[in-house]
Amino acid sequence: MPSLVERDQAVVWHPYAPPVATPLFAVRETEGVSIRLDDGRWLIDGMSSWWSAIHGYRHPHIDAALRDQLGRMPHVMFGGITHEPAVRLCERLAACAPDGLERVFLSDSGSVAVEVAIKMALQTQIARGRPERSRLLTIRGGYHGDTFGAMAVCDPVTGMHGLFEGVLARHLFAPRPECRFDEPCEDEHIAGIAGLLDDHRDEIAAVILEPIVQGAGGMWFYSPDYLRRVRALCDEAEVLLIADEIATGFGRTGRLFACEHAGVTPDLLCVGKALTGGTMTLAATLATGDVAEALGRTTSEGAPGVFMHGPTFMGNPLACAAANASLDLLDTGEWRSQVAAIGERLEAGLEPCRALSAVDDVRVLGAIGVVELHEPVDMAVVQPAFVEQGVWIRPFGRLVYTMPPFVTPPEAVDRITAAMQVVIGAIER
Ligand SMILES: Cc1ncc(COP(=O)(O)O)c(C=O)c1O
Repeated sequence: MPSLVERDQAVVWHPYAPPVATPLFAVRETEGVSIRLDDGRWLIDGMSSWWSAIHGYRHPHIDAALRDQLGRMPHVMFGGITHEPAVRLCERLAACAPDGLERVFLSDSGSVAVEVAIKMALQTQIARGRPERSRLLTIRGGYHGDTFGAMAVCDPVTGMHGLFEGVLARHLFAPRPECRFDEPCEDEHIAGIAGLLDDHRDEIAAVILEPIVQGAGGMWFYSPDYLRRVRALCDEAEVLLIADEIATGFGRTGRLFACEHAGVTPDLLCVGKALTGGTMTLAATLATGDVAEALGRTTSEGAPGVFMHGPTFMGNPLACAAANASLDLLDTGEWRSQVAAIGERLEAGLEPCRALSAVDDVRVLGAIGVVELHEPVDMAVVQPAFVEQGVWIRPFGRLVYTMPPFVTPPEAVDRITAAMQVVIGAIER
């Protein structure tokens, strides 16, 4: 009888993997902050299932909301029809997002929320009589998803641009902001993006970036001051600002949205991942009143007055119910002290990693702990080593990092950091 892993390897394709994925671990169930493997071992989850399961797994409040919605209406089309779970969710998102974001477009994954934001930005410029403004400006080290529009604004080196040259749209890339989170943004830090905006302002529809924390493109934390200055530059050049908060939204950085660190409102904001507390796939693009007004405009130059996008599963009631339940949990405000406590624990627990020969940098912000190495890890060695330590950590490239669920107890955070010390300590430089 073949094992589950063997059956998988015969037919299943996994993310960022060759046709036959290895190493691969079969999972039986999840509970609280843990994942149980098929062989019975429980692992403490240091990844929150790619940063989404902020309340841990099978939270009774989210489970109950899902069961309730399942009994009434798991799905119905969204064209010409509306329903309470979606309306309530959009009302709540508009209320909790940075001031001025008023209208919500629901979609089914983060990448699609980014595609929607890009289309909205381009269409806004068309409606404003500037169709030639069709390029995007972004910063190196970014990650915005794997669909073609999103991929074209990912870091050109780590984002596999080379493979698809000639097919991807050609956008503009400013240097990564080198001012760290707790440093001011000096003129030299902003000069690259300011220069590109100045030189190409008549071609640029929008600046797109991950505010404060660049996630999968490098786990880099930069100064709120930089974001404030980019907002001002965009205003001055009449270019839109798209904030991709798919990784940072809903508390991960210590603020509900990372834009709050800088006190800025983007013109478009993308959320996903933790929106449903990691239970269902759902994302959203929020737009300001000005953007919504432009998209509703019909002009003789071709602005259609409608936004031409509509995923089949848009506004899925089950996913909206999960998102509303997740927002209920965030509304208690407990996440603030939980994230702060995890951050302190990560600081203390990862500090010893600085002395390890394989380590280049250690940084912590909110409930994110990152150990950057000099060389890329060997996943075939490192992944089983973490499982041996009883934790689930999935590094990429030179980055070994953790983003545990907000409900992770202190001793479990310590288990994660201890495992990181042991596994990284065993890597020879
Ligand atoms: C900042 C950011 N944008 C977009 C995405 C893409 O989201 P999804 O994987 O749901 O398509 C991700 C996923 O890691 C992300 O971190």
